[in-house]
Amino acid sequence: MPNPSLLILPGDGIGPEVMAEVRRIIDWFGANRGLAFDVSEDLVGGCAYDAHGTPLHDDTMARAQEVDAVLLGAVGGPKYDDLDFSVKPERGLLRLRKEMDLFSNLRPAQCFDALADFSSLKKNVVAGLDIMIVRELTSGVYFGEPRGIFKEGNERVGINTQRYTESEIARVARSAFDLAMKRGKKLCSMEKANVMESGILWRDVVTEVGRDYPEVELSHMYADAGAMQLTRWPKQFDVIVTDNLFGDLLSDLAAMLTGSLGMLPSASLGAPMANGRPKALYEPVHGSAPDIAGQGKANPIACILSFAMALRYSFDQGGEAARLEAAVERVLADGLRTADLMGPDGGTPVSTSGMGDAILAALDASQ
Ligand code: IPM
Ligand code: MG
Repeated sequence: MPNPSLLILPGDGIGPEVMAEVRRIIDWFGANRGLAFDVSEDLVGGCAYDAHGTPLHDDTMARAQEVDAVLLGAVGGPKYDDLDFSVKPERGLLRLRKEMDLFSNLRPAQCFDALADFSSLKKNVVAGLDIMIVRELTSGVYFGEPRGIFKEGNERVGINTQRYTESEIARVARSAFDLAMKRGKKLCSMEKANVMESGILWRDVVTEVGRDYPEVELSHMYADAGAMQLTRWPKQFDVIVTDNLFGDLLSDLAAMLTGSLGMLPSASLGAPMANGRPKALYEPVHGSAPDIAGQGKANPIACILSFAMALRYSFDQGGEAARLEAAVERVLADGLRTADLMGPDGGTPVSTSGMGDAILAALDASQ
């Protein structure tokens, strides 16, 4: 059997420096756990635009379709702010999501014990928090037609279209129910069925799919009330399923509950490939943080935990994923802190690679 293949797209800003730490972790699993990967690397985002005049070259797109999993760092930066919309760095990411048909975006929000003081919410509200947001990623207002800025009489009108088919809703709902079955068997679906037809259809279809999952306790919430409940008492939730735009907003909100955006990984999954593995892209939730890029200040944990998600969801290595997550938990409990984590409890400041060193040492100690 050939080694499973990974395409690494470090991207812009802090992407390359956090991804450098992930590469060391990948090598560790090859050397110590018999999990060797064929790793290739390519460009996405602003750096791809600089090299090729497009944020995602067709060859890179084709390669992403072939590999077992894609790991992405981050895209974007002020240098690219004035580019035409069609070649902005973000378009590279959106093209990957759309063409790989990665409809189910898993965004866990987990509060590490060692960081419970970092949240802007009270410690008892967030300590032990472990929820999963499943965001629909390939449809809705991000992609609906018509879209554009048009002339209407003597003024311009900006148009985007919220559009969902039954099958698009059903497949993401199914992935959320499957996940709920493996977790706390509770699913909350969020939409705006009080004002949007697409929300009425969303609620209908999720309810229908739910008939196949009698063990899962399904509830529905308007997305605005959901945002409020997420800040009031987030531990009432286990899995949340929602559309592309609400998922974008709610996952940033949920990220902040955990204290640092630098901690959160994500997985974007599509349909199974011929080898049974899902089409998959893993990336940290944080952005390219151009203000701190190149200074060794970035926190590599979100990107490292994204690789842990790859181990779990693409390579069926839940035990090894848990080993890596435990190593991260260990170094946080030991008080190691990148700049974004220097908060109320002091701690030992470390650089990006210092955090990588510590996690590797914790991995060594784990076997
Ligand atoms: C995210 C980001 C992206 C999105 C941007 C960078 C296009 O905010 O992954 O949450 O809006 O989906
Ligand atoms: Mg976002």
